Amino acid sequence: MENKNFVIIGGSSGIGLAITHQLAEQSHDVFIGSRTAENIPVMNNVHHFQFDALSDDVPLDKLPESLHGLVYCPGTINLRPFRQLKDDDFLMDFRINLLDAVKVIQQVFNQLKKAPETGSIVLFSTVAVQTGMAFHASIASAKGAVEGLTRSLAAELAPKIRVNCIAPSLTNTPMAERLLATAEKQKATAERHPLKRFGQPADIANLACFLLNDESSWITGQVLHVDGGMSSVKMF
Ligand SMILES: NC(=O)c1ccc[n+]([C@@H]2O[C@H](COP(=O)([O-])OP(=O)(O)OC[C@H]3O[C@@H](n4cnc5c(N)ncnc54)[C@H](OP(=O)(O)O)[C@@H]3O)[C@@H](O)[C@H]2O)c1
Repeated sequence: MENKNFVIIGGSSGIGLAITHQLAEQSHDVFIGSRTAENIPVMNNVHHFQFDALSDDVPLDKLPESLHGLVYCPGTINLRPFRQLKDDDFLMDFRINLLDAVKVIQQVFNQLKKAPETGSIVLFSTVAVQTGMAFHASIASAKGAVEGLTRSLAAELAPKIRVNCIAPSLTNTPMAERLLATAEKQKATAERHPLKRFGQPADIANLACFLLNDESSWITGQVLHVDGGMSSVKMF
């Protein structure tokens, strides 16, 4: 298999870390931008650069000249009753989920364009965009914008760069820790899903890696649901 270069913003934890493991085990070079680095595997083909999406520009001197793919993982789960949500909650969710993703894509655009074949961008939405869920007004609004960005960019960047988005349901990562903190919460969450379990990082990473690789070379502009059936299956 050809060795490729991928940037994973937020490859230090949860889904991004699972993607990092899979790509690194396939011998690809993985460049992780994140604020922390302690969980990142120590491997010759895994490289870390210090990066806070809220304040930093991507340090292009730490990246190779051409990139085959980019994954943007930073996100939020800010669940509150609508009446408690302030402007700042909406603005922060919009900023980290959408605007900082836009900034990163713009900054690594030239590297993605230089990929010998098609480049691939993978973004993250949530099941709560397609399926209305209480207390998700802020995050669902921000991720809805990510879905719009996905389709728009897929049109604009075709055929050179593919752009797709994954919409997971609740997945066992540090971000979701509070929602899965007890055995009762875990059982109730599993029960709500048609497939009777909540997600694991590898469930989502499997699709992300497929979207980054050439097996998905005829797929762009898609929002793909990895959600145990939550968004489309009704159990009677
Ligand atoms: N887990 C779920 O249940 C779930 C459900 C639906 C959608 N999603 C979406 O899936 C994506 C991945 O979530 P996850 O659960 O894997 O989250 P996670 O475990 O919290 O990981 C988030 C990653 O993003 C990085 N990050 C966060 N803020 C950053 C910033 N300001 N600058 C740079 N890096 C930053 C973190 O690294 P550092 O802390 O080291 O900076 C970490 O590597 C998110 O977009 C999330 O909204 C998750």
